[in-house]
Amino acid sequence: MADELDLAFERTVRSEARIEPRDWMPDGYRNTLIRQIAQHAHSEIIGMQPEGNWISRAPSLRRKAILLAKVQDEAGHGLYLYSATETLGADRTDLTVKLIEGRQKYSSIFNYPTLTFADMGVIGWLVDGAAICNQVPLCRTSYGPYARAMIRICKEESFHQRQGYELLMTMMSGTQAQRDMVQDAVNRWWWPSLMMFGPPDAESSNTEQSMAWRIKRNTNDELRQKFVDMSVPQAAHLGVTFPDPELRWNEERGHHDFGQPDWDEFWQVVKGNGVCNAQRIAHRRKAHEDGAWVREAAEAHAARQVSKEAK
Ligand code: ACO
Repeated sequence: MADELDLAFERTVRSEARIEPRDWMPDGYRNTLIRQIAQHAHSEIIGMQPEGNWISRAPSLRRKAILLAKVQDEAGHGLYLYSATETLGADRTDLTVKLIEGRQKYSSIFNYPTLTFADMGVIGWLVDGAAICNQVPLCRTSYGPYARAMIRICKEESFHQRQGYELLMTMMSGTQAQRDMVQDAVNRWWWPSLMMFGPPDAESSNTEQSMAWRIKRNTNDELRQKFVDMSVPQAAHLGVTFPDPELRWNEERGHHDFGQPDWDEFWQVVKGNGVCNAQRIAHRRKAHEDGAWVREAAEAHAARQVSKEAK
């Protein structure tokens, strides 16, 4: 029986059909999905902080409205993704507790500080651009609820990327000081953006199995290359450069060659030793604790509804 279930699962995955919550799935598949989707959800929720930092200081009402909408979208993405983990049997409070106790990860990118308003544009352009590169293929991931959540998320991410690029185009047509601010932000965010795709394939512990299960559709290095190739002409159009002396077009490969990010720095940030890790987690912990009364009130209300119905 177990073999038959396994075969049916393999057949579904191989035929590009979707595994749905009620289907049988191997424990490893379920746990890998919960790990990846929870990390993704945590990234969206923690990712609200670097930009939230600038809402009250946006230079115009229009920029403030755009930033507010974007940060709200990120909250929404986190919530869809936590819902997707619930279809696998996970509990979202448990996942949040694991996050604030440092037992689950979130994207390294959100542990860097946002020093100027140009960072809002560069996050939209590069960070959301990298997120799109990584997430568009996930619309074809083998688990139905995750794939469907990604379709909507990617649409919103595209808007986020465009607003970032538009902000930077505006700054680049401004004063020299504004152009310098954009270049400085690009210099600070370029390498961390490349790190978002995860370690090189040779050091990626999960890629092989996740590709076999069609949870991941591309390797970390494939997506990093795609992102570099996509970003170079956008940088030229904008009038900025990337801080990589090894970056050049390779005619033979039909791709850009580029240097390696500082992988020691990456692992330090992943382990919790980045510039902003402690601040991000402390903020998330406080928000969770401050919300305790809301959760208690909701539970009390639900219990009252149940007892009313029972009468
Ligand atoms: N930041 C923090 N941790 C990372 C990162 C990163 N940028 N990249 C990899 N890791 C972790 C992995 O989670 C894994 O740790 P674990 O096994 O303890 O869970 C370890 O480093 C080794 O990496 P991989 O084996 O390559 O991990 P995986 O196969 O999960 O690939 C990736 C990593 C590409 C990020 C994948 O999980 C993924 O595509 N996730 C969905 C997208 C996502 O989470 N995006 C978040 C940022 S985008 C945004 O929020 C706007």
